[in-house]
Amino acid sequence: MKKNVVVAIDGYSSCGKSTLAKALAKKLHFIYVDSGAMYRAVTLYFLRNQTDLHQHDLIIDALDHIDLNFHSRDYQSHILLNGEEVSDEIRQMPVSENVSKIASIKEVRQAMVKQQQKMGRSKNMVMDGRDIGTVVFPDAQVKLFMTADPKIRAERRYKELKANGEEVSLEEIFENIAHRDYQDTTRQESPLTRADDAIILDNTNLTETEQLDFAISKIEPYLNI
Ligand code: CDP
Repeated sequence: MKKNVVVAIDGYSSCGKSTLAKALAKKLHFIYVDSGAMYRAVTLYFLRNQTDLHQHDLIIDALDHIDLNFHSRDYQSHILLNGEEVSDEIRQMPVSENVSKIASIKEVRQAMVKQQQKMGRSKNMVMDGRDIGTVVFPDAQVKLFMTADPKIRAERRYKELKANGEEVSLEEIFENIAHRDYQDTTRQESPLTRADDAIILDNTNLTETEQLDFAISKIEPYLNI
């Protein structure tokens, strides 16, 4: 049987992982899964329900009540939290400010990784996140580790949020990105780190087309096998 191709994209906050992942999925007709959206949706659920993060039994109970589903329209991924479309709400600051803390909880990660591995079992897919090449799909055929200058990353995210009508300052975003990077790289459970076999892609000075062409050149050898 032909083995499905998995492209794992990991890297720091706001460095264009999802832009590249969506473009790849569209070009190659792969499925795109935004694993960060899953952690964000769980965070939204915990915030709404004021889940006490110190009580592990409450966390486990809450996870049992969370049903996440993706549906894709025009290669944009939309996420449903218990049937409700929350794609916009999960990008807002209250979620961004709490997501890395919640993503560091072992039980949360175990539940998400299990769902992610199930999604990647039979389909060609691109998944982006922090631990995709190291933990979720250590056997992925292609692993990319993305990075970009922190100032450029903050400016990109600022433009994105402004375009969606959010009232945010550039400093606030810069701080949030720096703080999440710190939490993501230093946490105990599956910290963000480059897999030994991941290819580094620094897109500070690359256009979207250039980064797409670079990634395609790395994936092409695995197509039609
Ligand atoms: O879009 P951005 O790069 O800012 O972040 P994201 O991909 O939406 O992920 C939000 C947060 O979820 C990250 O800062 C991590 O704390 C967490 N995350 C994770 O721990 N593991 C993943 N595979 C994906 C995201």
